Amino acid sequence: MPHLIKKMGDLGLMGLVAPEEYGGTGMDYLAYAIAMEEISRGCATAGVIMSVNNSLYFGPLLGFANEKQKEQWIVPFTTGERVGCFALSEPGNGSDAGAASTVAKAIGDTYVLNGTKAWITNGYESEATIVFATTDKAKKHRGISAFAVPKPTKGLSLGKREDKLGIRASSTCNLIFEDCEIPAENIVGAPGMGFKIAMMTLDGGRIGIAGQALGIAQAAIDCAIDYASKRIAFSAPILKMQSIQQKLADMELRTESARLLTHKAAALKDEGKAFSKHAAMAKLAASEAATFCAHQCIQILGGMGYVSDMPAERFYRDARITEIYEGTSEIQRLVIAGSLIKEYQVL
Ligand code: CAA
Repeated sequence: MPHLIKKMGDLGLMGLVAPEEYGGTGMDYLAYAIAMEEISRGCATAGVIMSVNNSLYFGPLLGFANEKQKEQWIVPFTTGERVGCFALSEPGNGSDAGAASTVAKAIGDTYVLNGTKAWITNGYESEATIVFATTDKAKKHRGISAFAVPKPTKGLSLGKREDKLGIRASSTCNLIFEDCEIPAENIVGAPGMGFKIAMMTLDGGRIGIAGQALGIAQAAIDCAIDYASKRIAFSAPILKMQSIQQKLADMELRTESARLLTHKAAALKDEGKAFSKHAAMAKLAASEAATFCAHQCIQILGGMGYVSDMPAERFYRDARITEIYEGTSEIQRLVIAGSLIKEYQVL
């Protein structure tokens, strides 16, 4: 995998959204969503590695880091030689991100981190991470701060590599902080801003995951049409059967609808407009389209869809995570409904 990441770096994909002055490609989120779809159409694992580096690792730095931090933490991570990760979730809190229990205690000109972060994509390969830890527990989510932490570093160890259903070539593990001392200057943004930084970062990240899901959905359509045009049953390619055509029509409808939502969310972000609701709708629609299309693709391929000779079973396994990470489908619905209630000003 590292040589493929380097190749993506050479193509400018690992620093796609970072401005050129920080070594990036300087492209907008619409370009990013399209690139995420095309990469994930070939390999959803490569897609998530690219997405975590661009949205979740660069996101907090681009939005909130000072110039010195940007030079230090963005520039070396744009080429594909190094990747970053994002450490928000914990064993005891996933959807309830504000309940983070990892602590960052200010001692002199350092912070000392203690706690465990869970489900960290790029956990093994990353050479830096943005960690969310509480600097003031009494303030709850308003006491969470964001920190840039180098990897490896003393006091930070890695848990076991998780054995996952899909996107198996990307590593996922716990980050375990035990008296991990980092310079106070590594705080990103103001103390207590961490939860907002995480939420704003995830809004952008959801556009990337929508792109990843669209890639899986499109790959499932490509595979189903290819197979159905070649597989002969009842003396004709099964693509001629109306039952197959009905499935393909539904797959295309859901994918193209989700694509339009994803491009709209990206365009709103690029225009500097509010896009949180649209990012949630895009991720929800695209991840459900991916699961649906992968399911239907297997159905069209029949037994050939169930074995690993064909990629259909991989699409099915890879699709599933897009409904879980960067906020489950249930959380996306909460974000959408929350925005709607605010728009109507009825509560
Ligand atoms: N942008 C800016 N600020 C935001 C915001 C946003 N999108 N969403 C919420 N906030 C602010 C609110 O304005 C509020 O601010 P004040 O304190 O000033 O009032 C504060 O954050 C708290 O807001 P809520 O009361 O709405 O927060 P909540 O605790 O009810 O949580 C939630 C809301 C939507 C459920 C949120 O916790 C959430 O998104 N959960 C899902 C977390 C998630 O996506 N995790 C993914 C992990 S990372 C991952 O998967 C990465 C990977 O490896 C691929």
